[in-house]
Amino acid sequence: MSTSPLGTVLVTGGAGFIGSAISQKLADSSDRWVVIDNLHPQVHPSQERPKELHSAAELVVGDVTDPSLWDSVLAAAKPDTIIHLAAETGTAQSLHEATRHAEVNVVGTTVMLDALGRAGQVPPHFVLSSSRAIYGEGEWLNEEGTKLSPGQRSHAQFERAEWDFPTAVPLPSSVASTTPAPTSVYGATKLAQEFILSAWASAHDSHVTVLRLQNVYGPGQSLINSYTGIVTLFSQIARRGESIPIYEDGRITRDFVFIDDIAEAFKAVVLAGPSGPLSRFDVGSGVGTTIMDLASDIARYHGAPDPHITGAYRDGDVRHAECSIEATLRSLDWAPAWSVERGIASLQQWIAAQD
Ligand SMILES: NC(=O)c1ccc[n+]([C@@H]2O[C@H](COP(=O)([O-])OP(=O)(O)OC[C@H]3O[C@@H](n4cnc5c(N)ncnc54)[C@H](O)[C@@H]3O)[C@@H](O)[C@H]2O)c1
Repeated sequence: MSTSPLGTVLVTGGAGFIGSAISQKLADSSDRWVVIDNLHPQVHPSQERPKELHSAAELVVGDVTDPSLWDSVLAAAKPDTIIHLAAETGTAQSLHEATRHAEVNVVGTTVMLDALGRAGQVPPHFVLSSSRAIYGEGEWLNEEGTKLSPGQRSHAQFERAEWDFPTAVPLPSSVASTTPAPTSVYGATKLAQEFILSAWASAHDSHVTVLRLQNVYGPGQSLINSYTGIVTLFSQIARRGESIPIYEDGRITRDFVFIDDIAEAFKAVVLAGPSGPLSRFDVGSGVGTTIMDLASDIARYHGAPDPHITGAYRDGDVRHAECSIEATLRSLDWAPAWSVERGIASLQQWIAAQD
C-alpha cells in the first residue's frame, strides 16, 4: 500500500545524467525508487553506482531489452509511475549503429510493455524523455512569409559548405505547430518511443507525459562519452588550454538547458500526475545560443585561446534547434531558472572537482 502520494516509481536508465538528477529531487518522496540501468560502459566506465544517484534508489543492474529482468523486477515492484529514460543517445553514432539504437530505444520500450502485460500491470502514468531530435530541422520561414519544412541537409550540401537553407529563417519548434521530421536514426527512435508508449497506454486507459528535451548540460554529465554532451566536451578542451574546434561556420544554434531545470520539469510532471491520456511538452531554456558563442564563453572562462572554425560537419546534424516553451510555462508548475552563463560556470566548477 502506498504511504506517499508518489507510491512506487520505476526509472529506466535512472543511473544516468538526467535520472540521477531526478532521483535527487524525488526519491525521498516516494515509497520506493527502483532503477533499472545496465551501467552502459560508454557512460559509466567504472561500472560503479554513480554517487549522484540518491542513496534511497534501489539499483537493479540490467538491460531493458531483457524480458527476464523485467519479469523479476515487476514481480517485486508494482510501479505507479514509470519514468522511461534508458536509451542509446548518440545522434551521429546512430547513423552507423542504427540497429543498436533501435534495439534499446524501440525494442527496449516494447519489451517493457510486454512484461507489464505478462505481469498484469498497468502503471497509471508513464513519463518519457523524448528529444528535440524528433523535429529535425523543424519549420522555417521564407522571404514571402510562408512556412516551409526544409527537410534534411544532404551530404552534397555539406560538401558545398551550404550550411543554411538559403533565403529562409528558422522558427522555434513546438509541439503544437511543428511536424516531427527526424534527421537521425536516434531522433526516429525517440519518435517511435512516443508513438509506441501512447498507443499502448491509450489501449490500457493509462496516461503518458512526453517531455521533448533540448540540449541538456551540467554537473553529472558523462565526462568520457564523446558522442553526447558538447558543453562538457568543449569544457574539457578549454580546461587543457586548447582552442575548441568548431564545425560548419560556428552559427549552428542550440537551446542549452541546465540539468537542474530539467530535473525540476520532471519533478513538476511526476508530482502533478497525468493531465490527460497524452500530454507533450517542449522543455528547454527557450533561448537559442550559437555554438561559437557557447565555445567562446567557455574559452574565456578558462583563459583558453579563441575557438577555431574547422569547416568540418556531421551528416544528419540539424542546423538550428530551439523551441518555444510558452505552452509548457502555461501548463506546468515550472520555469527554467538557469542562464547559460551561470550554468557553464557551475559545470566548470563540477568538472574541476572531479580531478
Ligand atoms: N542529455 C540530453 O541532452 C538529452 C536531450 C534529449 C533527450 N534526452 C533523453 O534523456 C534520456 C536520458 O539521457 P541522459 O542524458 O541522462 O543520458 P545518459 O547516457 O547519462 O543516461 C542514460 C542511462 O541509460 C542507461 N542505459 C543505456 N542503455 C541501456 C539499456 N539497454 N538498459 C538499461 N539501461 C540503459 C545508461 O547506462 C545510462 O545510465 C534519454 O532517453 C535521452 O534520449 C537527453
